[in-house]
Amino acid sequence: MLQTANTIHRKRLSVQGLSHSYGGQNAVTDVAFDIEAGEIVALLGPSGCGKSTVLRAVAGLIQPKSGTIVLGSENLAHVSARSRGIGMVFQNYALFPHLTVAENIAYPLACQKMPRAERKARVEEMLALVRLDGYANRLPRELSGGQQQRVAVARAIAGRPSLLLLDEPFGALDRALRFDLQVELLHLQRTLGITTLIVTHDQEEAQSLASRLVLMNKGHVEQIDTPMAVYDQPKTLFVNTFMGQANRIDGTVVETDGESTLIGLAGETSLRLPHRLNFMAGSKVAITFRPEEVRLSAQPSPGALPARVTVSVPLGPSLVHDLVLDDGTGLRASETRGPGTFIPEPGTRVFAEIDAARCHAFPADA
Ligand SMILES: Nc1ncnc2c1ncn2[C@@H]1O[C@H](COP(=O)(O)OP(=O)(O)O)[C@@H](O)[C@H]1O
Ligand SMILES: [Mg+2]
Repeated sequence: MLQTANTIHRKRLSVQGLSHSYGGQNAVTDVAFDIEAGEIVALLGPSGCGKSTVLRAVAGLIQPKSGTIVLGSENLAHVSARSRGIGMVFQNYALFPHLTVAENIAYPLACQKMPRAERKARVEEMLALVRLDGYANRLPRELSGGQQQRVAVARAIAGRPSLLLLDEPFGALDRALRFDLQVELLHLQRTLGITTLIVTHDQEEAQSLASRLVLMNKGHVEQIDTPMAVYDQPKTLFVNTFMGQANRIDGTVVETDGESTLIGLAGETSLRLPHRLNFMAGSKVAITFRPEEVRLSAQPSPGALPARVTVSVPLGPSLVHDLVLDDGTGLRASETRGPGTFIPEPGTRVFAEIDAARCHAFPADA
């Protein structure tokens, strides 16, 4: 294993101003991000936002309309896909069905004209790395989905690429298996120190694998940050609502001074946020907060919003309440459940206290 780690050339990937369109329709606009040598970064966003297009451009499978892609010190503009030194894994395994596991892994090595004995040793090393020793002579159809995907990973890294690209690699697998493979991939990536870009629409997958996330929406990048920063300090309403759950109430800025901002809400209620916001009085804003930042009480209190319980559902360690405010806005609250936690009946009158310090405010038209 160490031997492999030493022979991988860690390279930094830099993507700048990447744009692409299909038949005149913009798919990706001015995408820019870097991956440090040895880092694992996730491109995350809803289906259709342009993730695979970015990946294909990096791989050299499409020629982008504009932008530069630099791997290490090499500009890839005129480097063919097969000369880029990139390993790829796709969602649908894409193993050769008539070749054995060993032959599948050896295939790119044979293309590189690696001598037979060295190839054999490399295949064995790869099989051990993905914990499939003993499976060398099986055909893909004799393997489970998870095993097939491990072969696909082994094949992608067998040629010691300096960049590994994965496009929704575990999308076809069930949840528990996906988690096992994510843990394995992370271990492998750390062992090899290979610069890695993974595309996924699954925020949990992105958070558990990547040191930084590139959040995409409608063809552009919304935010690049660590998983925690993206969750805790979202730069846009889209990021806030895409990562985890967020409640939204719309309001109007009444006044803002050096220390706090008063937001007027429907039904003569209001919320004072203990931070200064860059909004003028009269601006329409969307106030967001996580379900865990709402506390319910049976008694009114200053600043608490009157609501009714629609339904309360125990979810593992939590109790999740769906509520409606008097103006019809839906809210979700969640609390940690204990043995004596009271479960209110639907229709119960409650008062929702929102942790104003944890609220975010965005322009309402976003
Ligand atoms: N080969 C193609 N021809 C035409 N349109 C495409 C093609 N591939 C992708 N698109 C369009 O480009 C946009 C981005 O697609 P894609 O990069 O596959 O997104 P993602 O991987 O995030 O789901 C989508 O609107 C999609 O329909
Ligand atoms: Mg895709």
